[in-house]
Amino acid sequence: RPDFQIAPSILSADFARLGEEVDDVLASGADIVHFDVMDNHYVPNLTIGPMVCEALRKHGVTAPIDAHLMVKPVDRLIGDFIDAGASYITFHPEASEHIDRSLQLIRDGGCRAGLVFNPATPLAYLDYVMDKVDMVLLMSVNPGFGGQSFIPGTLDKLREVRRRIDASGRPIRLEVDGGVKVDNIAEIARAGADTFVAGSAVFKARNEDDPHRYDGVIGDF
Ligand code: DX5
Ligand code: ZN
Repeated sequence: RPDFQIAPSILSADFARLGEEVDDVLASGADIVHFDVMDNHYVPNLTIGPMVCEALRKHGVTAPIDAHLMVKPVDRLIGDFIDAGASYITFHPEASEHIDRSLQLIRDGGCRAGLVFNPATPLAYLDYVMDKVDMVLLMSVNPGFGGQSFIPGTLDKLREVRRRIDASGRPIRLEVDGGVKVDNIAEIARAGADTFVAGSAVFKARNEDDPHRYDGVIGDF
């Protein structure tokens, strides 16, 4: 499959030196910056918001920023992330009152839109909006924390989404998030994913000789 992309989740970065960490993973070969937004409401954790996204742009990050919104409600933050320079904005359908409207808001703002599916969320949410999504993100853990284990049932779900995307004939990216490691990424790719979020696997694999280089998933895939 063409065009695999690695999206380090900055949830596992050192937040005290975030700009440098993002520069380092990009220089190490990462393609996209995965930006996890948690609100202590939709998920039981609290992270970073649009101000930090804007700060990364001001720092000079030009790579795509993939804002994964784990927040409820979603719509007002969509506007803030558009203004902050996000490239992709994805949200969980259960967290939106009007899924079609939220997708449209993202596209109207010039960003690419995506739906995120928790391990137990049915794919039926895609049925009527396949022409309005640019990305499908399958969670392979329950959202809220880095460092969890990949849920194996995600592989069948990936194959199902891959079939739907191919049948649509549209260039929709298929991203997977949670527990992606060097030793399972090939199998995940074979199941149909083309975009791989990895947090702990990337940031725990700092190169021993060069503290600005990250290996792990970025280097070995
Ligand atoms: C979990 C987040 C993930 C997380 C992945 O809610 O959406 O992006 O950071 O971390 P790892 O790769 O460590 O499972
Ligand atoms: Zn994420």
